[in-house]
Amino acid sequence: MSNQFLEFQDQVEAVKRRCANGEITDTERDDLIRQMRLEDEVWGDVWMLSPAGDWFRKAKGSDSWLGDYPVALVDPAALPPIPQMDLRQIARAVHDCTRCPLHSERTRAVPGEGNSKADLMLIGEGPGFHEDRQARPFVGASGKFLDELLGNIGYKRTDVFIANVVKCRPPKNRDPQPEELEACQDYLDRQIELVDPKVIVTLGRFSMYRYFPGASISKIHGQPKRVGNRLIVPMFHPAAALHQPKWRPQIIEDFEKLPQFVADATSFTQAKDELDPDSAEQLSLF
Ligand code: URA
Ligand code: SF4
Repeated sequence: MSNQFLEFQDQVEAVKRRCANGEITDTERDDLIRQMRLEDEVWGDVWMLSPAGDWFRKAKGSDSWLGDYPVALVDPAALPPIPQMDLRQIARAVHDCTRCPLHSERTRAVPGEGNSKADLMLIGEGPGFHEDRQARPFVGASGKFLDELLGNIGYKRTDVFIANVVKCRPPKNRDPQPEELEACQDYLDRQIELVDPKVIVTLGRFSMYRYFPGASISKIHGQPKRVGNRLIVPMFHPAAALHQPKWRPQIIEDFEKLPQFVADATSFTQAKDELDPDSAEQLSLF
């Protein structure tokens, strides 16, 4: 595999070697690395690699750096079946997935992103116009509102994991079709399994239906349901709350309950661990 990302990594390594050889100080090395930029020749995104080795991407048309990992560094020839993929392999597979007709009109697939060990996972519907261009979830108007809702409860975007039920934009933002939802489901199932969040917030009807088939959001919003050791909380979609002023205070109020739900779900996990008959501590009682 040879590509611009590998070359960029080599350039960063060369700076590290100059430091190891005593040509520059640690501070000079880190400053140099922080100034290095890679412009993606396909999408126009700008990338950097932190001195600690983490990749950051500033999507074309965006002014914020967010952690990401270049799909070009994941070998497409070595992808296992979806239930065995890691998050990077899912992003790689989604990037050129053709499992449903939505692939034909997407600009870029939007795998989802965030903290791989997040307590809180948010599941939206599907990419819109801006998401489709930036390959990031919730970056348009509803994304700004989502950032605000998270900010109100002391969460940053990078604290949570954000995904969608379909990873490619439905043309003209139409509803995703049942066969598209089904085709895409394995990716989301695996993302949930890997992140293993304590609380999942469903945003909009299609992610709500995964857990509350046929329910009405105006009746059940903000009311958690326990599934195993996890709480699922249906919420209005931020876009709907932006368009329907009467729902705005509701979604703000529902978000305010989330820190308590995370604490509640954390206690389920601890209670289970304490009662686990296989745990060493428990065995020592016999
Ligand atoms: N709306 C969604 O449901 N998901 C996104 O990623 C963006 C807007
Ligand atoms: Fe594949 Fe999902 Fe995109 Fe359909 S929406 S092409 S299943 S990634």
